[in-house]
Amino acid sequence: MGSVSNLKIDLVEVCEAAARACAPFIGSGNKDEGDGLAVDAMRSRINQVKMRGLIVIGEGAKDEAPALYDGEAVGTGEGIGVDIAVDPIEGTNLFAKDMPGSICTLAAAPVGTMFQPGPCFYMDKQVYPKVARGKIDPQAPVAERLGQLARALGKERRELKVFILDKPRHQELIAEVYAAGAKVRLATDGDVNGAIQAVLNMGSDALFGIGGTPEGIVTACAARAMGAEMFARMAPQKDFEIELCRKEGVDTQRILTRDELVTSDDVLFIATGLTSGAYVRHVKVGYDAYGRHKTTDTVVLDGGVGNIRRVQTTVHV
Ligand code: FBP
Repeated sequence: MGSVSNLKIDLVEVCEAAARACAPFIGSGNKDEGDGLAVDAMRSRINQVKMRGLIVIGEGAKDEAPALYDGEAVGTGEGIGVDIAVDPIEGTNLFAKDMPGSICTLAAAPVGTMFQPGPCFYMDKQVYPKVARGKIDPQAPVAERLGQLARALGKERRELKVFILDKPRHQELIAEVYAAGAKVRLATDGDVNGAIQAVLNMGSDALFGIGGTPEGIVTACAARAMGAEMFARMAPQKDFEIELCRKEGVDTQRILTRDELVTSDDVLFIATGLTSGAYVRHVKVGYDAYGRHKTTDTVVLDGGVGNIRRVQTTVHV
């Protein structure tokens, strides 16, 4: 039987193609054109990958952006069955403003292994690095959880930094982290980026707060690939979403574990930097003797093999 891990080079090329395509719009103030180009490039390259792929977590519905749609079949239609979660531009505002933290990201896992969030666009997430796995009580108050994290990391609480999206809905959460003596890294957008900082323990020690469910499933794949910890609870925010979740009987109190969010270890998380970030660099356009080229920087978290791979690719365009 094949392994999702074997598809990594092809799937890296999917993210790289999307990053090169949308790069001209970084810092243009325009998020939709770049997003559309990234989606088209992603679709065109992913359909050359030998797999029976299915987009189970696409994007677009929350904010009506261009998207690879949920339920879209991708790949050549041969080979292993693969669940795909994509976000061609994660952090579209950051991308449009050339602010740090926007990435092109994709996660893959064996067919049927990714959690289906149903009508929920938002979930409340907690992400911690590997050393904290099994040592955090997700129901405990913020200060207690930070104490558990500090003990796991061998740090003082005041040395901890928690990534939180800078949104009005997080005011109380941010205040609780400060009150517990820890620091906060705020960003207007990009909670996958924040979660990966926590998973790799590069720049942040944890991610807390409410963000998109597609981003949450992508994050769960990254956490599982690296043996890191994650919890999530459905947290509908918009009126129509709250109503839909109520009608469908979604339990918004239940905390899902990482292994409920993705049930296989054979997972891939791939992120190509669009703008600069803590763990991937900005797409670069340059010139050499052969002409104009674009260089991308990608990180691959591979649960099948259990390693982290960095891929820097230069393509003449
Ligand atoms: P986009 O790339 O779709 O703009 O998402 C950016 C983001 O900040 C995500 O990282 C996060 O999960 C979500 O938006 C939060 O949604 P909202 O901005 O509606 O609170």
